[in-house]
Amino acid sequence: AGSGKFFVGGNWKCNGTKDSLSKLVSDLNSAALESDVDIVVAPPFVYIDQVKNSLSDRIEIAAQNCWTGKGGAFTGEISVEQIKDLDCNWVVLGHSERRHIIGEDDQFIGKKAAYALNQNIGVIACIGELLEEREAGKTFDVCFQQLKAFADAVPSWDKIVIAYEPVWAIGTGKVATPEQAQEVHAAVRDWLSKNVSADVASKTRIIYGGSVNGGNCAELAKQEDIDGFLVGGASLKGPEFATIINSVS
Ligand code: G3P
Repeated sequence: AGSGKFFVGGNWKCNGTKDSLSKLVSDLNSAALESDVDIVVAPPFVYIDQVKNSLSDRIEIAAQNCWTGKGGAFTGEISVEQIKDLDCNWVVLGHSERRHIIGEDDQFIGKKAAYALNQNIGVIACIGELLEEREAGKTFDVCFQQLKAFADAVPSWDKIVIAYEPVWAIGTGKVATPEQAQEVHAAVRDWLSKNVSADVASKTRIIYGGSVNGGNCAELAKQEDIDGFLVGGASLKGPEFATIINSVS
């Protein structure tokens, strides 16, 4: 870990029921959590209110997506204003599942990020390469292009956390090695320094996501440019998520 306060996000994706999330919230409420860590969980939209009303204020809430602008006649969408109305201060954008399964492109994602930041909502901006892109030696190209789309759109970097999530590591149990993750995190920081500013490069948290669990988090957390994690599967288990939060080093 290097820049800023360690940041751990739990992305619950499209998982959970009222009952299972009530159990998860009570496990998180009773867990001993390191104080020097920003903690955010992203429940499915329909459970945000339930989670917000039962979870300790120690943990902030993120939405998993948002609309590109003000609400209105956009069936099935959720506006940033509605997210804020539920006291939710963050949104996850550019997640690989939305890029590759739903088909969101860089420009659409950039538009959402700009709108959210203008409304004072923090953005967890996800980037990451597919396996075939890594194998073709295009990891940096892909990550820099996704980063540039954010950089071209956003009004400021004060409330952005970058999540590097190699797609081949998501939900596969194939975590990136600490060296693989560190190499990309360092390159992302260098890109920020050259293309945004040295100040933004040194202050922006770059977190890693992709098969992080209670067993591999400590080694990853030791890497200089890994400033936290975005956790999927393991964030659905309270005690294991607490172990990951407490891996701050
Ligand atoms: O956003 C977090 C995520 O994509 C990683 O998922 O299940 O591999 O930890 P998982």
